[in-house]
Amino acid sequence: MELCAHRGLSGQAPENSLSAFILAAEAGLPWVELDVQLSADGVPMVIHDESVDRCSDGHGRVRDLSLAQIQALDGGSWFDPTYAGEAIPTLADVLALCLRYPLKVNVELKAYEVADLPALCEAVAQVIEHLALPADSLLFSSFDTQALALMQRRLPQVRRGQLWQRIPADPLPTLAALAAWSVHCDYRHLTAHQAQRIKQAGYRLHCYTPNDPAWLVQATAWGVDMLISDHPARFAG
Ligand code: G3P
Ligand code: MG
Repeated sequence: MELCAHRGLSGQAPENSLSAFILAAEAGLPWVELDVQLSADGVPMVIHDESVDRCSDGHGRVRDLSLAQIQALDGGSWFDPTYAGEAIPTLADVLALCLRYPLKVNVELKAYEVADLPALCEAVAQVIEHLALPADSLLFSSFDTQALALMQRRLPQVRRGQLWQRIPADPLPTLAALAAWSVHCDYRHLTAHQAQRIKQAGYRLHCYTPNDPAWLVQATAWGVDMLISDHPARFAG
């Protein structure tokens, strides 16, 4: 079973920060997950929430703030004073770091407004092309099937994983249309029947965000392929 650091090693450093991705690499993890959305001036930024409020000393929606405004924020003190001054990174900064280590990256496309999706997908594709990242070092995921369909057209060589909090009754048509590689679901809602169905249809099964290693027994029994955790080291060994 593969381990993926959710928002970087977010149990030990501010989520989605360069420090969190460096710690994941130094811990020897093969995969990191990140969340990406666009700034007001169209730059893909690595941040989870719709607003900067929880994870910085600033206020406002990411889509309403420019790159310069976002990068002027302190994105570390909210987590711990030792991270004071840590910047909210761009996707280009994080992917360049991952290329150097190397680390494989699950890029979760977040568009809090559906109208932002085409611009987000195009900007993300341009960053990947500019850095010449190998396709097998990447995996796109999104709760938004349309985002994955856009990426299927734009960068078909990069694998796609459909995110569902709860896997729907009939997931296979969506997965087939996307030529998906994986299903990513909330481990708390996964059932044995769903796991069996996804696996039998030939898709990989990735679960977020288990942090209690007791779940490993069930994950193993159900054939889960990847755990996306804030504390992946708890599942190692
Ligand atoms: O990609 C898995 C997980 O990150 C999805 O939920 O809200 O943590 O981005 P969220
Ligand atoms: Mg995410």
